[in-house]
Amino acid sequence: KPRLYSGMQPSADSLQIGNYIGALMQWRELQDSYEAFFSVVDLHALTQPNDPAELRAKTRRTAAQYIAAGIEPSRSTLYVQSHVRAHAELAWILSTITGFGEASRMTQFKDKSARYGTDATSVGLFTYPVLMAADILLYQTDIVPVGDDQKQHVELTRDLAERFNSRYGQTFTVPMPVIQKDTARIYDLQNPTAKMSKSAESDAGVLWLLDDPAASAKKVMRAVTDSDGTVRYDRETKPGVSNLLVIYAALTGRQIPAIEDEYAGRGYGDFKKGLAEVVVEEFGPVRARALELLDDPAELDRVLAANAARADEVAGATLASVYDKIGLLRRL
Ligand code: TYM
Repeated sequence: KPRLYSGMQPSADSLQIGNYIGALMQWRELQDSYEAFFSVVDLHALTQPNDPAELRAKTRRTAAQYIAAGIEPSRSTLYVQSHVRAHAELAWILSTITGFGEASRMTQFKDKSARYGTDATSVGLFTYPVLMAADILLYQTDIVPVGDDQKQHVELTRDLAERFNSRYGQTFTVPMPVIQKDTARIYDLQNPTAKMSKSAESDAGVLWLLDDPAASAKKVMRAVTDSDGTVRYDRETKPGVSNLLVIYAALTGRQIPAIEDEYAGRGYGDFKKGLAEVVVEEFGPVRARALELLDDPAELDRVLAANAARADEVAGATLASVYDKIGLLRRL
């Protein structure tokens, strides 16, 4: 089977529905036809300030949400990035073949560093995409399903793989990003031209997977729309309604025109009520299952340990061949 790799940062207590629609739904579907590896990228999360106890909790919570959303740890390898040491080691090697200018062109870095200022921007934030490349390349990955904000990082990964292969001989599979066009970007409900994000400044526009259903319904009812009054998809002039339509369609598997027809001649109130029901129905069971899993952290940790052992084997083999090829002396 071809290989699939993807991951998420444990950067909040809950995932948001952009993560769910833009990534997790694809993961769940693709895990049948691929040998899949899904990581909770805790090393990446260190690029933001973290309370140690909270980081541990968020890491477990993220893993629990993967499982609750339908990733099966008996079929797919679901593990914590820092449990497999090869990630940090390969990241170092790859950093030595990454251009400073090349890394400087990553738009996510440019955005974040502009927001934080130079003093609060760490070198880790700068090399973040190199660690991501290491994640992907260690597993000889064929496809990387992500939302469109990660596309540039996967392209850097491809460049690094090709560069390494041409310098040292065939070592890495060159991965392809897989981006679901329609759902690649879910927007903030209060600010529908900005990406919904775990690290959004205000919570009002973010739908959390683990939120209380009543709270999510309320956020949907309060979502920003427009004064036009018709439920119609038009990204340019109706970003708020369009975003809600995309969410509605993604969660129900229906086409946008069918939803527009259903709400033709009815107001936004009805439409939002309909969407709130869809959201509650979809996330209610996911939330309940995640909380159940979190009730038994010891069992969750055991599952993660077994999966890390599986990941370690694959990653270790790739790393050993990399060390050999670039001329590091083998320890007897
Ligand atoms: P992260 O944790 O920011 O996001 C996890 C996944 O969710 C997608 N996503 C969205 N999709 C649609 N609409 C949105 N508003 C939205 N917000 C987030 C992201 O595109 C991503 O697929 N660097 C990565 C994590 C990572 C990784 C990897 C991913 C580390 N190593 C290797 C793939 C392969 C990140 O920060 O994702």
